[in-house]
Amino acid sequence: VSEKIANGSGPLQILLALFSSAITKAFPDLPDPPIVVALSPKFGDYQCNSALPISKLLKSQGISIPPPEVGKRIVENVSEHPLVMKLDVAGPGFINVSIDKNYVSKILTNVVLEGIKPPPVERKLRIVVDFSSPNIAKEMHVGHLRSTIIGESLCRVLEFLNHDVLRINHVGDWGTQFGMLIAHLQERFPDFAENVPPIGDLQAFYKEAKVRFDADAEFKKRAYACVVQLQNFEPTHKRAWEVICDVSRREFQKIYKRLGITLQERGESFYQSRMEKLVKWLDAEGYLEEDEGRKIMWAADKSITVPLTIVKSDGGFTYDTSDMACVQQRVNEEKADWIIYITDSGQASHFQILESCAKRAGLLPSHVKFTHVGFGVVLGEDRKKFKTRSGDTIRLNDLLDEGVSRALETLKAKGRHEVLTPDELKQAMESVAYGCIKYADLSHNRNAEYVFSFDRMLEDRGNTAVYLLYNLTRIRSIARTAGVSSEQLHAAVKNGTQISLDHEKEWKLGKVLLRFPDVIIESLKDVSLHKICDFAYEIATAFSEFYDNCYCVEKDSSGEIKKVYMERLLLCEVTATIMAQLFALLGIDPLSRM
Ligand code: ARG
Repeated sequence: VSEKIANGSGPLQILLALFSSAITKAFPDLPDPPIVVALSPKFGDYQCNSALPISKLLKSQGISIPPPEVGKRIVENVSEHPLVMKLDVAGPGFINVSIDKNYVSKILTNVVLEGIKPPPVERKLRIVVDFSSPNIAKEMHVGHLRSTIIGESLCRVLEFLNHDVLRINHVGDWGTQFGMLIAHLQERFPDFAENVPPIGDLQAFYKEAKVRFDADAEFKKRAYACVVQLQNFEPTHKRAWEVICDVSRREFQKIYKRLGITLQERGESFYQSRMEKLVKWLDAEGYLEEDEGRKIMWAADKSITVPLTIVKSDGGFTYDTSDMACVQQRVNEEKADWIIYITDSGQASHFQILESCAKRAGLLPSHVKFTHVGFGVVLGEDRKKFKTRSGDTIRLNDLLDEGVSRALETLKAKGRHEVLTPDELKQAMESVAYGCIKYADLSHNRNAEYVFSFDRMLEDRGNTAVYLLYNLTRIRSIARTAGVSSEQLHAAVKNGTQISLDHEKEWKLGKVLLRFPDVIIESLKDVSLHKICDFAYEIATAFSEFYDNCYCVEKDSSGEIKKVYMERLLLCEVTATIMAQLFALLGIDPLSRM
């Protein structure tokens, strides 16, 4: 078994493998025995709780073996592994696992030399992540902000695991609303093709167009004609459409740049010709049904009672149509093994119907995983939907501006502007502002709604980005103040110095750090990135306890350094390396000074 456990696996993965094989050996005739291993700091370090359910399973087959005896037989079959120091069967068959200090120390000490490695994965996957995806000519709202933050972090985790990730911005850049926008543009700015029209406020432009569209029958007609021209890619109409998209794009891009988001834009328009082909084919294959002038498609799953609208009564395509073409494109052309969509939970049923229809039409083979990652709404401090005081949607660029000025206030209140250089102060305020917004979002269970509060986010105590940023900066400064360079730390390891885990608090911190690979794997199950945040916070807390109790450097009464504990500086170094990696996955920029 030990050979089968890939290098770089965390303790949980290792124990699962060890117990799984032990249980199969001890009870070869038992189909699908439950393998339950959990962290258990009270009794040993980990615990395997399989004996009780296995005993019950055996009983149902007419074999009576009491749980403690089952536990004993499992223990007898666990192969040797350097992680495991001791196995004890307690009470009703709980198997307590104590892990080996020397093993933990070796694994962690190695991080000093080799850096932190990603946990091993079975196979490199091609993964399409569809996130952010705002709509052209409309304001990008806090819902899109959540999608952007979660999507970016998820991509970073997947890329860290060496998967092949395609980050797609599925912007809403197609549809009948472009008819009225183009018609309005042609009339307001007839020379738009030569001179970029000064549309500072696209939302206002959209509203003007809409008012005319609703009130003026002639205009409405022209707008419809424009849609037809656009869908035929007539050059001047296409140009008008591009101009409008560009105005939006520039706004979106500002936000992405500030937040360090990488995305490839591939909006709904990309699928126009694919939609035409697909719709013909779906129709020919008999998947479409007439319904009051529309063409609809029912899911294979009979419990789904809402169909997709594939063709509207005016002949136009819909959000549903582009998403069907999009699944087909991602499977056939992108060769995706996994397609992930990140939108608010309100769209969960859309994606459920989409998945079922795509399967029904054979567009989505069973080996391709299809996941909708939903999230709850963002609330204001009044616990109502997050809006400005006048009830408008909040402009994200304004929100980020506010974050930056609030971060600066917080830093100034601590007198940091007197200590840091202007450059450092600028870096600190941006990292704090964007970091705290991202962290507040990611640290909540994504399915829950959360209250957007700068006051709360900018607190320097508790599970916040600010607290963690301070911690990392402090940890990094310990060796520096002791006058020990990273070359000296490396040299110490090469000369055989190992991280010491003898003190209770060192041991506690070491065991937390060892879990890094397990946490990454766990955070991908159900895409629960808050587990990465919780882990970062757990490390920071364990580190503080260690630092409060263990000298890393001893000074005499005059402040002169008397003794440097290299074994402990190494533990600081590994803590910092792992925290920095977690920050990178969360999209937070660490600071050397703050
Ligand atoms: N533009 C959509 C919205 O703002 C989100 C698109 C999500 N992606 C997709 N393939 N449907 O709600």
